[in-house]
Amino acid sequence: MMSAITLSTLRAMKKRGEKFATLTAYDASFSSALESAGVAAILVGDSLGMVIQGNSTTVPVTIDETIYHTRCVRQGSRNTLLISDMPFMSDATPELALASAARLMKEGGAQVVKLEGGAVIVDTVRLLSERGIPVCGHLGLLPQSINKLGSYRVQGRDKASAKRLIEDALLLESAGAELLVLECVPAMLAKEVTEQLTIPVIGIGAGADCDSQVLVLYDLLGITPGKRPSFSKNFLIDAESIEAAIAEYVKQVKSGEFPAAEQIIA
Ligand code: KIV
Repeated sequence: MMSAITLSTLRAMKKRGEKFATLTAYDASFSSALESAGVAAILVGDSLGMVIQGNSTTVPVTIDETIYHTRCVRQGSRNTLLISDMPFMSDATPELALASAARLMKEGGAQVVKLEGGAVIVDTVRLLSERGIPVCGHLGLLPQSINKLGSYRVQGRDKASAKRLIEDALLLESAGAELLVLECVPAMLAKEVTEQLTIPVIGIGAGADCDSQVLVLYDLLGITPGKRPSFSKNFLIDAESIEAAIAEYVKQVKSGEFPAAEQIIA
C-alpha cells in the first residue's frame, strides 16, 4: 500500500532537490486519478468558482462550497496531501480565519489551508500555525484581489515589488507557513524566493526553479472556459487518455521538462 504524503515528505523532497507535482481537483473521480498518477499534493482551489461554477472571478466562492468540494476530493484520494483554499474574506480577521480553517479540516478533511497575501496576513498565519493548522501562503498574483488589480497580470516585475515579495515570503515562513504558492512572477524572482526559503515553493507561471508546479486541472486538460493562461499547457493533446495526460504532467514536473521555455515568464 502506498504511504501517505505529508508535509515532512515534501520538505524532505525539497532538501533532496526532488521536484513534486501539485494539481487542483474538485471531485472524487479526478482526485482518484491524480493520486494514481503520482500527484503529491492536491489543491481544492477557489478556481472552482471559475471552472466549476462559471463565474468570472474567484470572489463569489463560499466556505460551504469549498468544504463540499474538499470532502468530495478527500473521498477519492486518501494518501495525497490535501490543501484547500480559504475563500475570499473567510480569513478577514484572525478569529474568522481560525473558524473557517477549522471547518475546512473538520468537515472537509483538508490537511493544509491556503491563504492569499503577505505582511497583512502574518498574524493570521501565526495564529493558525500555533493552533496546529498547517498553512500554505500565496504570493504574486492574488486572484481574490482582482477587483483592486483590474486584470490578471504578472507581479513583481519592478525592483520595489520584487523586494516586497521576498520580504513577504520570509515573513510568512517565519510566522509558520509550511508551503508557499507563487503565482505569475518572473522566473528569476521565483528562483530567488525558492532558494531563500526552507519550505517548499509551488509555482504557477513562476518558472522552472520552484520545488513544485501546480496547474488548474482543466487547463491541463484543455477544457478551460475562455483563454488558457500562457504559462499552462494542454497535456491531453498528445495523450491517449486523461490518466495518461496527468501522468505525463507528473513526469514532466518531476524531470523539470515542464515548464519549458514557452511557458516561462521572463
Ligand atoms: O485557486 C486555485 O486554483 C489556485 C491555483 C491557481 C494556485 O490558487
